[in-house]
Amino acid sequence: MHALPPGVDPAELARIALTVAVEAGRLVVDERPAGLGVAETKSSATDIVTVMDQRSQDHLLARLGELRPQDGFAGEERGARASESGITWVVDPIDGTVNYLYEIPAYAVSVAAVVGDPGVDGAWQPVAGAVVNPVTGERYTAWLGGGSWRSVGDEEPRRLHVTETSLGQALCGTGFGYDADRRAWQAAVLTHVLPRVRDIRRLGSAALDLCRVAEGSLDVYYERGLNPWDVAAGWLVATEAGAVVSDLHGQAPRAELTLAGAPVLHTSLGTALERAIEQVGPENVR
Ligand code: IPD
Repeated sequence: MHALPPGVDPAELARIALTVAVEAGRLVVDERPAGLGVAETKSSATDIVTVMDQRSQDHLLARLGELRPQDGFAGEERGARASESGITWVVDPIDGTVNYLYEIPAYAVSVAAVVGDPGVDGAWQPVAGAVVNPVTGERYTAWLGGGSWRSVGDEEPRRLHVTETSLGQALCGTGFGYDADRRAWQAAVLTHVLPRVRDIRRLGSAALDLCRVAEGSLDVYYERGLNPWDVAAGWLVATEAGAVVSDLHGQAPRAELTLAGAPVLHTSLGTALERAIEQVGPENVR
């Protein structure tokens, strides 16, 4: 447990996270270039996505710099800033970039305030965060000790709670990395998990997957290879809704594995994954 710096109100940080995530979400939807789409050649379309990722991140960097100038900043794109306050903002300017490219409405801006060093596994934790899907209008927020909340449009926020069920009845989210060898390993592990759960969903945004665990529209979720910006806000949204979020050994989630679910389900899927990984063997990452 990392201490919150004195005088910091995590509820206020969550409000800031939500404000800037909504703004950045509007930017990525409203200023999406007309030519961006799957009809374009994939390499140039991917570059345009990178441009929108960077623009969204620049917006977050600038706004958080105005609102909380002493805080640090770390994100998926360039533009890191060291923290003088003990708080660092960890952002994913578009989580679910492939969905963004294909206009599948399952991408999000993820903004989290964290304490500790987000560059070191296990040395940080989120204290406030927001995940905003700018297409559906879904907004998720959480702050340390304050619960997790979801609203759509102007509706009053509703408090979220995870669902506890058996592994066999669980709808399980997962995702795949971009590296071909990693994907092959992930697919092999999945062949052992799939027969043990109700079904699998691959939605394409880790931040939204974690929020879905929080609201019970996924029962459990796991993925290897996630970065701090993919998980930071969703980790807190899930935890504050009653989920356990960890790696395979009960420590903080890290690139090796992020596993999230209600306590009993988290344990059952963890055991199933350990067995699956034993059978598949180590990953051969280039
Ligand atoms: C990706 C998404 C996806 C997950 C990948 C992530 P990005 O993030 O969260 O669901 O499966 O591992 O890299 O690249 O869209 O920000």
